[in-house]
Amino acid sequence: MAPVTQALLFAFLMLLLLRRAPGLGVWQCPVLCCSSRDQPQTLLSLCPGVGAQVDPGFQLRQPQDKVSVAAGETLTLNCTMSGVSPPGPVKWLKGWGSRNVTVYDLTGSFPRVTRAVDGSNTDFTIHIRDVQPEDSGTYYCVKFSKSLSGDGVLQRGSGTEVSVQAKPSAPVVSGPDRRAGPGQSLPFTCTSGGFFPKDISVKWLKDKALITSQPPQINPGQMKFSFDMSSTVTVTLQEGDIRSQLICRVQHPTLEDPLDGTYPLSRALRVSPRVQVVMDPSSPVKVNQTVNFTCHVKRFYPGDVTVTWLENGTELKVQNVSRAVETPQGLFELRSLLEVQATEEKNGSVFTCRVVHDAQDPVTSMATLQIVPLSKEGQGDWSQTDNGVNLLASPVLWLGILLEKGLLGGLLIFLFKRGRA
Ligand SMILES: *[C@@H]1O[C@H](CO)[C@@H](O)[C@H](O)[C@H]1NC(C)=O
Ligand SMILES: *[C@@H]1O[C@H](CO)[C@@H](O)[C@H](O)[C@H]1NC(C)=O
Ligand SMILES: *[C@@H]1O[C@H](CO)[C@@H](O)[C@H](O)[C@H]1NC(C)=O
Ligand SMILES: *[C@@H]1O[C@H](CO)[C@@H](O)[C@H](O)[C@H]1NC(C)=O
Ligand SMILES: *[C@@H]1O[C@H](CO)[C@@H](O)[C@H](O)[C@H]1NC(C)=O
Ligand SMILES: *[C@@H]1O[C@H](CO)[C@@H](O)[C@H](O)[C@H]1NC(C)=O
Ligand SMILES: *[C@@H]1O[C@H](CO)[C@@H](O)[C@H](O)[C@H]1NC(C)=O
Repeated sequence: MAPVTQALLFAFLMLLLLRRAPGLGVWQCPVLCCSSRDQPQTLLSLCPGVGAQVDPGFQLRQPQDKVSVAAGETLTLNCTMSGVSPPGPVKWLKGWGSRNVTVYDLTGSFPRVTRAVDGSNTDFTIHIRDVQPEDSGTYYCVKFSKSLSGDGVLQRGSGTEVSVQAKPSAPVVSGPDRRAGPGQSLPFTCTSGGFFPKDISVKWLKDKALITSQPPQINPGQMKFSFDMSSTVTVTLQEGDIRSQLICRVQHPTLEDPLDGTYPLSRALRVSPRVQVVMDPSSPVKVNQTVNFTCHVKRFYPGDVTVTWLENGTELKVQNVSRAVETPQGLFELRSLLEVQATEEKNGSVFTCRVVHDAQDPVTSMATLQIVPLSKEGQGDWSQTDNGVNLLASPVLWLGILLEKGLLGGLLIFLFKRGRA
């Protein structure tokens, strides 16, 4: 072989060797390795700012480090290029490595994405509308170089970390399934969800007064990158709570003003009625006289009651129930009137007013009809009720009767003694 041919062959072999061995010289690395398709990732990390050396004029810039955007808003991702752009596509990728997702390239269809400057060769800034918590992640603007074996990464931006801030949903307060009376303690729960970041504060108020509560429970939400919270408070009910509101107040970095969830305590409260039967006239009741039995049903909530009258334990059909009237405190009152003709066979009859409220045991009050015999008319006072509206229980009346009898007795004795004398 001619020495010239040998020299040429040697030179060719050397060249091949240099191409195969990327670590040989720093100056060679960008030129030789980074256009190689074998290990784009490792090479890229070994050779930062790679593209600049491919074409000293080419530079890709991704200026945003971190971007925070509210859910539902439009996210802008900036990417600009300068210098002579070698052939090959530019893409936006979310994530790096095997889990990357192409967010935008020129060839695909990306309905939520628009370019800031359509068709520009230098500005590859994109807008992504209606971002959701699951859009959180790191986004890379990437310039690929074209080669026969496919596109390789030429240069990649430094990445933009996007966090999507999501507002909590309107808080909802739920109460117990059943009503409870004043003095009882009941749990109430406030829930809200879909928020990001995790920090959230919950306050409970009864009207304007703060109630102490445990910190809320925060759990991962149904959507990725979102959280749900639940907070429980125990409230001891009072009779005056009918007009009270329980408020769950949620504050989150995404909110200008806190969000309130309200619960009217009237939905959890039951105030059982006080029942009292009043007879009119109470005494004396003469045969065939009309007697009004009025059943006073007082201070109850909610406003539904059923009132029935019974005579000697048997239900009566005739009755007259007034409309429930609301008191200023929000409690209800009503009356039921029963007109009875005091016939002789009703002597000793027991009239009962039975009130059923909110599926509770009935509350009753009763009165006994006593009829004065014709012969004693105008003398005896016979009527009584069992709830304190009993004239016989009046000490003044007893005193009057005693005084009257005493005087009469005294007079009789006096007359008798005088007669004998
Ligand atoms: C991002 O790009 C838009 C549109 O090109 C521009 O208005 C904005 O100033 C850029 N922001 C940054 C941080 O470069
Ligand atoms: C993106 O993911 C695909 C496979 O899912 C992989 O082939 C490709 O190398 C990845 N690209 C980058 C730049 O990580
Ligand atoms: C009471 O009324 C009944 C029938 O209405 C009558 O038969 C009876 O005589 C009356 N009794 C008196 C004492 O008025
Ligand atoms: C009984 O009630 C009726 C109807 O409200 C009334 O007309 C009548 O005067 C009342 N009777 C008595 C004794 O109060
Ligand atoms: C109930 O009482 C009112 C007056 O208090 C009267 O107008 C009405 O007719 C009565 N209804 C019945 C069914 O007795
Ligand atoms: C109810 O009972 C009393 C005493 O048991 C009796 O005197 C009265 O007649 C009874 N009333 C009726 C309507 O049966
Ligand atoms: C009603 O009953 C009482 C005792 O229960 C009795 O003293 C009175 O005489 C009775 N009246 C009539 C009208 O029968």
